[in-house]
Amino acid sequence: YSLKDYNTFGIDAKAKFFIEINSVQELQDILADDTYQNKFILGGGSNMLITQDIDALVIYVNIKGIHIQNEDEDFVKIKVMAGENWHEMVLWTLENNFGGLENMSLIPGNTGTAPIQNIGAYGVELKDVFVSCEAIRMADQKLVHFTKEECQFGYRDSFFKNEGKDQYVITSVTLKLTKKNHVLNTNYGAISEELARNNNMDPSIVDISNAVITIRNSKLPNPKELGNSGSFFKNPVISKEVFEDFIAKNPEAPFYKVSEEEFKIPAGWLIEQSGYKGKRFGDAGVHKKQALVLVNYGNAKGLDILNLAHKIIADVKSKFGITIQPEVNLIK
Ligand code: EPU
Repeated sequence: YSLKDYNTFGIDAKAKFFIEINSVQELQDILADDTYQNKFILGGGSNMLITQDIDALVIYVNIKGIHIQNEDEDFVKIKVMAGENWHEMVLWTLENNFGGLENMSLIPGNTGTAPIQNIGAYGVELKDVFVSCEAIRMADQKLVHFTKEECQFGYRDSFFKNEGKDQYVITSVTLKLTKKNHVLNTNYGAISEELARNNNMDPSIVDISNAVITIRNSKLPNPKELGNSGSFFKNPVISKEVFEDFIAKNPEAPFYKVSEEEFKIPAGWLIEQSGYKGKRFGDAGVHKKQALVLVNYGNAKGLDILNLAHKIIADVKSKFGITIQPEVNLIK
């Protein structure tokens, strides 16, 4: 069973068995079924690189639904089922004038996978609007409730990437959004520039969403046209000591101060300076407009992309002494 249409990298890996599930009950039933020894959970497939065929039952989580859980004059809590496409859900919130997700417009993937890596863009992260989520524990098929604290969100990180890895299937996410007095995040350089370009001094949440969509479309390849998984690497966070040495040697490098002790360097800059931007090796390549994104020009194998990633990591390390790490989930 080909998984090509189920991962945004467009890798033509095969699954031994495949099933699509449409409800929490179906998910619990299939997890309890011991006909299949190995089970592999697949959501939007937007943050993974499949490096070989999957010798397991692939369970495609396609549970739909968006419900308003409760609301008052100022806020609304919505419960979104895991299989809802993230961006379509964001557009639904904007149609209802619910604020909070506009900066995270056009992020590929499904809502159920958003907590795993605490998705984020243009100054806002999932954790800023997150209330809780529900998940099925694979071991006993029980529905477990997770508060925001229990999810242990960090930069592109959570409980589900660490202690909880491969043990839970997230089935729904509850978010708290504003109904009025929306809190606008326009500080990120690219957004303020885009709004200024349109002479927009008093943007609405829809205007911000449109600005984000314009920026993303100008830099990030559309997975439907060119296979990719967004940022392939995380931006490295380095200590003050390492940073001082780095910035003395590379005074023109962009950086963000994370705390008094930590600094974040854009991996895209490190990769571009290492000469990889726009480079192509067979069908595996580095995107022309954003060096943080690896792309599949058509028939790249997962291993072709992985080999390219290893070359980049080694060259960035030897040029800058900084180790960058993949952000995407490597399926081996
Ligand atoms: N840069 C380069 N060359 C490049 C790419 C970037 O020099 O090829 C420099 C830019 O000039 C800029 C800096 O790096 O000074 C930052 O670039 P950008 O604003 O494009 O953001 P990023 O740090 O590269 C992160 C996220 C993106 C998110 C954007 C906007 C990570 C790993 N990536 O990228 O997330 O959209 O910020 O918030 O944190 C994703 O996770 O899939 C993703 C696209």
